[in-house]
Amino acid sequence: MTSTQRPLRWGIIGCGSIAARLGEDVSRLPGHKLQAIASRDAGKAARFATRFGLPRTHAGPNAYAALASDPEVDLVYVATPHNFHKEHTLLALAAGKPVLCEKPFTVNAREAEVVVSAARESGLFLMEAVWSRFFPVWREVCRRLVAGEIGEPRMIYSDFGFRAGNLGSSHRLADGDRDGRLLSTKLAGGALMDVGIYPISIAQMIFGEPVQAQAVGILGDSGVDENVGVVLAYEEGQVATATTSLQVNTPSTTTILGTSGRVEVPTQWWRPKEFVLHRDGAEPERFEFPHEGEGFQFEAMEVASCLREGRKESSVMPLKDTLSVMRVLDTARRQLGLKFPMEDD
Ligand SMILES: NC(=O)c1ccc[n+]([C@@H]2O[C@H](COP(=O)([O-])OP(=O)(O)OC[C@H]3O[C@@H](n4cnc5c(N)ncnc54)[C@H](OP(=O)(O)O)[C@@H]3O)[C@@H](O)[C@H]2O)c1
Repeated sequence: MTSTQRPLRWGIIGCGSIAARLGEDVSRLPGHKLQAIASRDAGKAARFATRFGLPRTHAGPNAYAALASDPEVDLVYVATPHNFHKEHTLLALAAGKPVLCEKPFTVNAREAEVVVSAARESGLFLMEAVWSRFFPVWREVCRRLVAGEIGEPRMIYSDFGFRAGNLGSSHRLADGDRDGRLLSTKLAGGALMDVGIYPISIAQMIFGEPVQAQAVGILGDSGVDENVGVVLAYEEGQVATATTSLQVNTPSTTTILGTSGRVEVPTQWWRPKEFVLHRDGAEPERFEFPHEGEGFQFEAMEVASCLREGRKESSVMPLKDTLSVMRVLDTARRQLGLKFPMEDD
């Protein structure tokens, strides 16, 4: 574990798009240091290290294992495609490293249970990187919901969808585009796994574990889901809808409806800077929370404080929520008829 004097030294597995986006924010964050990058490709690792001033790179076929056991790394951030999350998280845990793993945590709930058990057995910190939960907007919205400012929350509408660049204009895949991460069954892609997880996870944060999940939607030519609606029902009668797509740009808003008002988190609710509180009979109130960069610093700060305090998981993104969301994703995929090739049952 890192001492209070020394910055938290990050090691990143997988040198792709999210590694650089998170890298931008973490590189500016006091108390944090981008220390090492692991890539299969030495050129990519070197360019990343130069761009962000990293002292250490690991490249080649054993790069990920080398980073996991690098003694100058305090925390491993797993930033590879979905189907590799289990393997790379286990690699880091086996090397004695706490882990922040990108969403979705694994391919399915069974894999997630294996990884969570490994962390618990080794006493190491583990968290799924659902970064939205840590934004000041969402912390404040949660506080106000608990304080009863919209009465009893009963319903949530939330969406996250976008038009994937490699979808053909007739909603069919162009030839040669079938290996893109989003549209690949081999890489456990699809709308639900990539972005549908966000509205499901935010509903989990507010209402807890659903008692029923019903998904409808369609699979595209590549075999992954491209247009999906999920309805979630909860023990005390609350309902949440989560819509997701790789075919269309959705509004990307979340509304929480209560018995005496509602909260609206406007577009790009998953990295928000404001929300609007509507209380019945009162003028709407807008609350703004400007921040630097994209906002990856908030989850980074949560990880650092958990490690500093010796906590094994985050109370904002606990592992029980990760497991519950993975079960919902499993149910939704089963209803849609989407099974990934690495799933053997
Ligand atoms: N929090 C967010 O807002 C956010 C946004 C985007 C993505 N994500 C998540 O971040 C993770 C990575 O997504 P990404 O968009 O960064 O993907 P990406 O750009 O495709 O990068 C993934 C990296 O994984 C490594 N990798 C190892 N084996 C691979 C294989 N067989 N095929 C492809 N890549 C392989 C590669 O790194 P090397 O070649 O360097 O080894 C690659 O650059 C996913 O879990 C995704 O859902 C989160």
